[in-house]
Amino acid sequence: MQAKRAAGRHAADLVASGARLGLGTGSTVYFALERLAERVREEGLDLVGVPTSVQTEKEAERLGLRLTTLDREPRLDLTIDGADEVDSERRLIKGGGGALLREKVVAAASEELVVIVELSKVVDRLGTTFRLPVEVVPFACTPVSGRLKDLGCEPQVRGADGEPSVTDNGNWILDCTFPEGIADPLGLEVELDRIPGVVECGLFIGLAGRIVIGHDDGSVEVR
Ligand code: 5RP
Repeated sequence: MQAKRAAGRHAADLVASGARLGLGTGSTVYFALERLAERVREEGLDLVGVPTSVQTEKEAERLGLRLTTLDREPRLDLTIDGADEVDSERRLIKGGGGALLREKVVAAASEELVVIVELSKVVDRLGTTFRLPVEVVPFACTPVSGRLKDLGCEPQVRGADGEPSVTDNGNWILDCTFPEGIADPLGLEVELDRIPGVVECGLFIGLAGRIVIGHDDGSVEVR
């Protein structure tokens, strides 16, 4: 927790007054939200945020952060978000919290995506420690699963007790295991985008700016 807290707070300290922010989702982001709320109270930091999930919307509201939408603010200065894996080319796997679609939309609307992770999320090859989430329209789940198997992975519907989890967008998630990891993330993203019924995948390529890595001793490094 110390590593996530350090990364989250460090990223929140990068925010300048007047910022239009994308607010990611997850436990690391929560620490950033807490720090942003502190800065609003203590320094009068002026900011407005677009949440990437219902969960973040609720947390931000509870902390007293001012929220807006992409309809009102289609261009954002900075997004702060977590990740499930990061490689040396700043490519990411995201979607552990199921918010990948809105997270990608918000990241793409931002001047910079600042990624906050603990050191264990830094990997040599994507897909080796975390399954790739793919958001699908429920109607298309079975044919999409077949197409995903053809791409060399084993997809599994996310859920509990046989009940699929439903995303904030009313879709399902297929968590895809790649036995050898993902050799060609960009090529895979292109293939996934071509499958009818796939809404979005958790590969974030060419979107990340600074990567803030938290360590267990509370220190951070920025790559
Ligand atoms: C949610 C995400 C999260 O950012 C990712 O799962 C990391 O979460 P955490 O900070 O809790 O480890 O992509 O969809």
